[in-house]
Amino acid sequence: MSSKTNRRRVFVSAPDVVEIVNEALPALAPGEALVRMSACGICGSDKAGAHGEHVFFKPPYYPGHEVVGVVLELLHDATGLRVGDRVTIEPTLICGHCKPCRNGAENLCENLEFFGCGFREGGMADVFAVRADRLHRVPDGFTDRQAALIEPLATPVHAVRLVGDLRGKAVAVLGAGTIGLLTLVAARYAGARKVVSTDPLANKRQMALELGADAAVDATVEDLAGTVRGELGESADVVFDCVSHQSTLESAVKMAIKGGVVGVVGGPRRPVTLDLPVLQEYQIRLQGCATYRARDFDQAVAIISSGAFDADRLVTSTFPLTKAADAFAAISSGREAKILVLAEN
Ligand SMILES: NC(=O)c1ccc[n+]([C@@H]2O[C@H](COP(=O)([O-])OP(=O)(O)OC[C@H]3O[C@@H](n4cnc5c(N)ncnc54)[C@H](O)[C@@H]3O)[C@@H](O)[C@H]2O)c1
Ligand SMILES: [Zn+2]
Ligand SMILES: [Zn+2]
Repeated sequence: MSSKTNRRRVFVSAPDVVEIVNEALPALAPGEALVRMSACGICGSDKAGAHGEHVFFKPPYYPGHEVVGVVLELLHDATGLRVGDRVTIEPTLICGHCKPCRNGAENLCENLEFFGCGFREGGMADVFAVRADRLHRVPDGFTDRQAALIEPLATPVHAVRLVGDLRGKAVAVLGAGTIGLLTLVAARYAGARKVVSTDPLANKRQMALELGADAAVDATVEDLAGTVRGELGESADVVFDCVSHQSTLESAVKMAIKGGVVGVVGGPRRPVTLDLPVLQEYQIRLQGCATYRARDFDQAVAIISSGAFDADRLVTSTFPLTKAADAFAAISSGREAKILVLAEN
C-alpha cells in the first residue's frame, strides 16, 4: 500500500515482466517536486520498451511518461508552482546548456534523459519525483483523460510544425494508433484540406473516420500508395509515417508528391532502407520528428481546449495501478487506442 513513507511503482523487470514493487518514497533533490499520480497513459513506446524492442531503452525500467498528477511537495523550486497544482510532465530531461538546448531545440538535447523511459523515475507509481521545471500546469476544467493526452498530442503537434504549412494540403497518415489518430487531429487543426488514414485494423480505421479522416484505407490492400492517392484525389503533399516499418516508409515515399515531405513519427524498431535514387530524383524531404518542445505542449492544450476531439473516445480502457500488467497486455492486443493506468488508494 502507499503510505506517507512508501509507494507502489510499476517496474518492467525483464522483457514482458511487469511487476508492482513497494519502495520508500524518493528523497527530493533541490528543484524537484513530489507528485501524486492521478492517471498515466501507456503508449507505443512503452509497449516496445516492455517487449524489450525499443531501440533507446530496455528493461529493467520504470515506465510512465504521459502523466497527470498533483504536486505534493516542492524542494527549493523556482518555477512558481505550488503544492496542490495539477500538472502534466514534459518528460524530456534536458541539460539546458548544450548547443541544441541553447538554440531552443531542447528536444534534441545532446545529454537528453527521458523520464519514464530508462530513467530512475517514471510516472506509473503512486507518487514520483520529477524536476519541477519539466512540469506544466493543467488548465482548470480539463478532465484527467484530457490532461493525460496533452503529452501524446504534443508529438503530432511538433511533427506538424516540422513539415511546414499544412493549410490546403493533402495529407496521408500511416497508422491509426494514438499517435496516428492525434496526428490526424493536429493536421486537421493546422488546416489540412484532405486527410487519409491507414491501418490494418478495422476498429482503428473506424476511429480515424470518427476523428475526421476523409477516408481510412486498409493498410493491407495490394496497391496501398495507389489506393491512398485515389482517396486523396491526388498525391500527398505530406505523409506522416506513424508506424515506421520498412513497408510503411516505402509506401510513404510512393504516396508523396514530387517535392513532398515524409514525416517519420513512428519509432522504427530496426534500421530501414530507402530507395535513395527516388528520394533524390523526386526531391522528397524525409523529416525525422522527435518528441516536442514546451510550445508544442501549449498548442496541444489549445487544441484540446478547442474541443477538436473527444478525449473520452480516444481512451478506450482504464486499469488500476496494481493491474498495470493487465494494462500492458491489453495495449499489445491491438484493439485499444489509449489505455490509462489510474491511481488507487
Ligand atoms: N516521434 C516521437 O517522438 C514519438 C513519440 C511517441 C510515440 N512514438 C512512436 O509512434 C509509434 C506509434 O505510437 P502509438 O502509441 O500510436 O502506437 P500504437 O501501437 O498504439 O499504434 C500503432 C498503430 O499502427 C498500426 N499499424 C501496424 N502496422 C501498420 C501498417 N503496416 N500500416 C499502417 N498501420 C499499421 C497498428 O494497427 C496500430 O493501430 C510508435 O512507434 C511509438 O514508439 C514516437
Ligand atoms: Zn508516449
Ligand atoms: Zn542539452
